[in-house]
Amino acid sequence: MCSIIGFVSSKQASPSIVQGLRRMEYRGYDSAGIAVLEGKKIHVRKGVGKVAEVNNMLGMDELPGYVAVGHTRWATHGGVTEKNAHPHLSSSGKLAIVHNGIVDNYRVLKESLLKEGFSFRSETDSEVIANLLEKAFAETRSIEESMMRVVTQIDGKYAFVAIFDDGTLAAARFHEPLIIGIGENGYYVASDVLGFAGVTDKVVYVDNGEFAAIDSEGISIFDFQGNPVPHGVTRVAEEFGVIGKGKYVHFTLKEIFEQPQTIAMAAKLTESELKEVSRLLTEASRVYVLGCGTSYHAALLGCRLLSEYTQVNATPVLASEAKFFPTKYDSKTVLIALSQSGETADVLEAVEIGLEKGAKVVSLVNVATSTLARISTLSIGLRCGPEIGVAATKSFTSQLATFYAIASHLSGGRVPSDLGGVSKGISELLVKQTHLREVARRMKGASDIYVLGTGPHYCVALEGALKIKELAYVHAEALPGGELKHGPLALLDPSVYVIVVNPTDATYVDMLASAHEAKSRGAKIIGISDKPSDVYDEWVGLPKLDPSLLPLVEVVPFQALAYYLAVERNADPDYPRNLAKSVTVK
Ligand code: F6R
Repeated sequence: MCSIIGFVSSKQASPSIVQGLRRMEYRGYDSAGIAVLEGKKIHVRKGVGKVAEVNNMLGMDELPGYVAVGHTRWATHGGVTEKNAHPHLSSSGKLAIVHNGIVDNYRVLKESLLKEGFSFRSETDSEVIANLLEKAFAETRSIEESMMRVVTQIDGKYAFVAIFDDGTLAAARFHEPLIIGIGENGYYVASDVLGFAGVTDKVVYVDNGEFAAIDSEGISIFDFQGNPVPHGVTRVAEEFGVIGKGKYVHFTLKEIFEQPQTIAMAAKLTESELKEVSRLLTEASRVYVLGCGTSYHAALLGCRLLSEYTQVNATPVLASEAKFFPTKYDSKTVLIALSQSGETADVLEAVEIGLEKGAKVVSLVNVATSTLARISTLSIGLRCGPEIGVAATKSFTSQLATFYAIASHLSGGRVPSDLGGVSKGISELLVKQTHLREVARRMKGASDIYVLGTGPHYCVALEGALKIKELAYVHAEALPGGELKHGPLALLDPSVYVIVVNPTDATYVDMLASAHEAKSRGAKIIGISDKPSDVYDEWVGLPKLDPSLLPLVEVVPFQALAYYLAVERNADPDYPRNLAKSVTVK
């Protein structure tokens, strides 16, 4: 949602804060800001726009001073305005805070602070934290005592960092991510290791229900009752250092093109991972597979693979609906939780409900340092490197590749485990990107796109439609091919595009019939298939592959098409409007 960062440095802190914010911008990009301590004065510069825009306007990275905090925002409480951007100063200006999450009881707290004479400048829930801290510090003169008081007063899920005018940073974590980085020039605290990637891979985890006090002398960690908590230093994966766009214009394009390699990486589970996941799944009496958005689409395909080729019967659950789903959790239940970020609030909530009832959790997660990875019984990394583009691309195919490896192991090889042909097929498809760009150019005026798939290809259709919606802002709807005639046909006319996922497997004949039905109502048909047909106005060729592997390649033309549609429609594919990459609020 939002990203927060702090830095206690032996050199000018602001350039590192701005750099860290740029790398974490995927978490929210409505507005950005920085607060820097110079002498005893805290200077704040903040504004609406992306980090680079605000920095160009205000010179955030020019501020002198050794201790600083920064923020990128994804608005929840209060509009996207300069005054609602973080950091927020306390009434007296003696401290400033940056906050990620929601303070559920902020209205009550604000009212009572107002009565006591504290002033507020924004409409945010966050500002109460600054004033509560100021009040507690005035009463106790102790940063630790003040943090304890504040964390017991605020309800909700949050992480925040406060900068005090004596040069201390105080940071608390409650169900939102926070991690400390130990660099040569000082200490970082950030929502994501990307905040200090390339500077250090030495980290200290702040656990849920803990707060840290950080100054030039070092780090102290406490639980919310004020007891000191010992902390160890862990090294995080080096791949977090590889975060540039390389030769690509956008991260999204780079990540689409990385898939031939990332799929192969994801499919390489270790012997012990395969053994452990097989044990957990075969001993389970119930298996649920859950995720949100793109990860849910991978969950749908994962369930199909397990149920079709192995003895494991798995039920897909949309994590945001899990609370209301008639699940039966017990100690014989396994939840397979899918998440790129490992921080999606809906997923964490669903998993916590399961854990409380004794269920085991297997997570397929990309961010190895995430909350989900840390609370799982077994966590299997997707190993596809940082995914910065807000739309999920390579993490989706890596989730699928991991499922193929598991299903292959459990089925004694009924599902192919060698994904070499898939990698080659994707590379071939991507060579034809100029064709997809031309198709996108012709489609750019479309107001409605229907995406048809049948069987496993319906799951790909769902993912394809989601990519078009979020990247190109065009209404796109996935339908099982056979459902067209049960109502949606009424919507078709010559202004509508219909994309059919139509490989020559068992679904081919039915889907071809649906394509004809749509064509005879005037719609333009785009066929994604390994076989051309007269019914297609545009044909996007698929490589010949084992039919069970097709979903892994079918999604790639959708990703590229959605990307080029976004470019043609002047949308920013890396940062779609109104979205944030990890949705850490409910
Ligand atoms: C779609 C997209 C979202 C995420 C969803 C879950 O491109 O990015 O739909 O897939 O918010 O996120 P993770 O996988 O991080 O749990």
